[in-house]
Amino acid sequence: MTHLEVPAYAKLNLTLDVVSRRDDGYHDLCMVMQSVDLRDELTLEAGPGEGVSVSTDLAFLPSDGRNLAAAAAQRFFEATGKNLALSIGIQKHIPVCAGMAGGSSDAAAVLRALNQLSGADLAMEELIRIGEAVGSDVPYCVLGGTALAEGRGERLTPLPPLPPCEIVVCKPGFSISTPELFGRLKGKKLRRRPDTQGMLAALEAGDLPGAARRMYNVFEDVLQPRQARTVEEIKNILIAQGALGACMSGTGPTVFGLFSARPQAEEAAERLQEEFREVFLTRPV
Ligand code: C5P
Repeated sequence: MTHLEVPAYAKLNLTLDVVSRRDDGYHDLCMVMQSVDLRDELTLEAGPGEGVSVSTDLAFLPSDGRNLAAAAAQRFFEATGKNLALSIGIQKHIPVCAGMAGGSSDAAAVLRALNQLSGADLAMEELIRIGEAVGSDVPYCVLGGTALAEGRGERLTPLPPLPPCEIVVCKPGFSISTPELFGRLKGKKLRRRPDTQGMLAALEAGDLPGAARRMYNVFEDVLQPRQARTVEEIKNILIAQGALGACMSGTGPTVFGLFSARPQAEEAAERLQEEFREVFLTRPV
């Protein structure tokens, strides 16, 4: 039996633009993604044989093939022909159904770990292609860091890193269905689009305030009124507490703010904790 412990980092969307609707039911996106050190911890036990099992410390999460970590392992074995008996344990810290790619990140961590454990030694490109079949956010999670994601999310360009900063993350106590939110875009004229080119230039220049100012997610425009009010409230608190910029991540409802100094970020987190249960202080990785 081989034992391996691997981290699975959460992602945040510094920008999210929906470019067009595709014939296959998906949408072409344009997103600047950033991984952060808020992470799940995975333990893999592998040995000769076959069969994949998953257990997590959250009883409501699926432990069968619906768990993206199990789906990723199956896809990896199919693609490489290198089967293993695999048991995956996941300690969840990334909020679930939050727009932070928690499940996709677990799947990506499994792909990277199996690439090492099985001796398959696939190139990053091949691992990303396997991830694509598991979910739209998995390719980015395999790559990690700061990256531009286009197409369904599988066309990736590594970017200069977001300058060092403190990030306050707040997940309100409701969930948003991803397919439903994409559905709400239909026939909707978006009032605002993120300045992706400006974001890329700010990253190139190592300009943290410039990057923070350009953060925007078009899904903020199609939320239900009550959800929109909560997202706006969190953004207002973050900005009032000194955030350089604030934005919703993915299909929400998580909102985050970038700070240049730790004490301000800590105060902002304390202020948000008065109203919200899931508040985290994190950093880019
Ligand atoms: O690929 P994944 O299973 O993560 O996607 C979940 C849902 O999100 C899809 O069924 C689709 O409704 C929507 N989606 C989309 N365009 C994308 C990614 C996801 O329409 N690029």
